[in-house]
Amino acid sequence: MLSLFDGISCGQVALERAGIEVENYYASEIDKHAISITQKNYPFTIQLGDVKNWREWKLPKIDLIMAGSPCTYWTIAKNYRAKQKKETEPIGEGWDLFKQFYNTVTALKPTYFLFENNHRISKNIIDAITKHLGVSPILIDSSTVSAQKRKRLYWTNIPNITQPIDKGLLIKDIYEYDENLIKKDIRIFDTAVITDNYIKYDLSYKGHYSQQDRLYFLDGKAPTVPKSRTETKVNILISRDDISTYKKISPVEAERLQTLPDNYTYGLPKTRRFEAIGNGWTVDVIVHILRFMKH
Ligand SMILES: C[S@@+](CC[C@H](N)C(=O)[O-])C[C@H]1O[C@@H](n2cnc3c(N)ncnc32)[C@H](O)[C@@H]1O
Repeated sequence: MLSLFDGISCGQVALERAGIEVENYYASEIDKHAISITQKNYPFTIQLGDVKNWREWKLPKIDLIMAGSPCTYWTIAKNYRAKQKKETEPIGEGWDLFKQFYNTVTALKPTYFLFENNHRISKNIIDAITKHLGVSPILIDSSTVSAQKRKRLYWTNIPNITQPIDKGLLIKDIYEYDENLIKKDIRIFDTAVITDNYIKYDLSYKGHYSQQDRLYFLDGKAPTVPKSRTETKVNILISRDDISTYKKISPVEAERLQTLPDNYTYGLPKTRRFEAIGNGWTVDVIVHILRFMKH
């Protein structure tokens, strides 16, 4: 197996969970924090470093290449205010990284490939990836297999993939009470608006309703675990009887939202854990896809 942009090796967790035996797991990753998590959990991972050096790698026959290249250059957020210029054409750094994946697939000719990316990227880039890989993307929302909404596109030559059956998981299924993470803010009462999935409030009092000022219901779904190095974005309302009291999400809850084992990222500072988890794959979506491989 060859995993490019391996992050914290969610692909390796998925292979193990799918019961697929791996002889050698080669990983290309450059972030030392992500690598440390991988090596803690899978000490036999062979780290290859920067994907741009792939021509120098000495590899045996590869059966599967997996990759989720950084979407930073491409993702156009819903309420995106053009702060950072995003690439909308198949040129630039984001495309160059995709091309590293494409080039390894072309050169190494694995039996199977899997490429993942955010669904909020420009149609031109989606079409260009589709043209290069010769397969159409499948949109899968992680909410089918986890308590988290997370829509992602998957391009693969693994055949006949269907949508996962919805497991009906909700925040209450991954919730863990922790006194130290409880917050109270009576200002929430002033501007609270109840929606289907959360209560939003506006601490600016100017109608901004910042995305992080939301309290998610225990019997609802969590938003996409963000890759940002903060711990404030996913807040859980503990009881509908008191909307001023909520709990911040813990790293273990974030791991559960990504269907990772509890404490998979233990050992790193909390904010680094959130970043690594938010950057990763929802393991059980990958398990679902890999089960369609003939092996
Ligand atoms: C979206 S994350 C992928 C996470 C991964 N799928 C997982 O399950 O953890 C993209 C990763 O690509 C890595 N990356 C960026 N540039 C790279 C390069 N030139 N070579 C190898 N990895 C790179 C980043 O450090 C980041 O961990």
